[in-house]
Amino acid sequence: MKKTTKTILKKKGIEKIAMLTAYDAPFAALADAADVDIILIGDSVGNTVLGYPNTVPVTIDDMAHHTAAVARAKPDALIVADVPFTCAHHNFDRLLDDCARLVRSGADAVKIEGGADMAEKISRLTKAGIAVMGHIGLEPQQVLKLGGYRKFGKTDAEKAAILADAKALEAADVFVVLMEMTDAECAKAVTESLSVPTIGIGAGADCDGQVLVLADILGFSENPPSFAKRYANIAEAVKNAFSEYVADVRNGRFPNK
Ligand code: KIV
Repeated sequence: MKKTTKTILKKKGIEKIAMLTAYDAPFAALADAADVDIILIGDSVGNTVLGYPNTVPVTIDDMAHHTAAVARAKPDALIVADVPFTCAHHNFDRLLDDCARLVRSGADAVKIEGGADMAEKISRLTKAGIAVMGHIGLEPQQVLKLGGYRKFGKTDAEKAAILADAKALEAADVFVVLMEMTDAECAKAVTESLSVPTIGIGAGADCDGQVLVLADILGFSENPPSFAKRYANIAEAVKNAFSEYVADVRNGRFPNK
């Protein structure tokens, strides 16, 4: 049965939410066959598929293209698409158009990086009928300003700011608050203080759900983050298959006469 934001909201305190990124139809179908709750077309498509060093160069055209590919797999999982770099900082009408474009491409919801600073716009989006997932803690679209990636919420001041961000997003009617690279104690406190579910990535075990990036769990990432778990080494299997094919062609073993 198709999962909706309601399905996800109802899971809080009952069952953990499993979310995974996918960027195309075949992997979306495989994720759905594994019964993931949410498929995220992350802007991590930039660094995992499109060959960019980070998520900054990803455009709304890229996101619409990959969202449509995932949607063609018709997954039961809720489809969430990232709003890419700077789009959430455009004026509201343009942001609304970008979100509507992602929804028309097949997304059930969008994800926006930012906390209290984004709450007013997110509130207007949710009032307009767009389902929004918040994203706080590390916001990878800020990488150029930050000069790299780091953990957030370790100091009392950062803990208080993250809690305030989460509360502001909840008041703006997001259906999930995602926390990336957030101190585990801080993420636990946020989870306990919200009525909507939290989803963590590098944010400890006490969030209401977890998300990982496809390339990290399948062994495609050269430098996976330390919090990720590799469940398979598909890159090695693919490399071996390619090498065998090349050898077969060169040695005349393929095709058979
Ligand atoms: O783009 C992405 O894959 C994400 C996850 C890291 C949560 O935003």
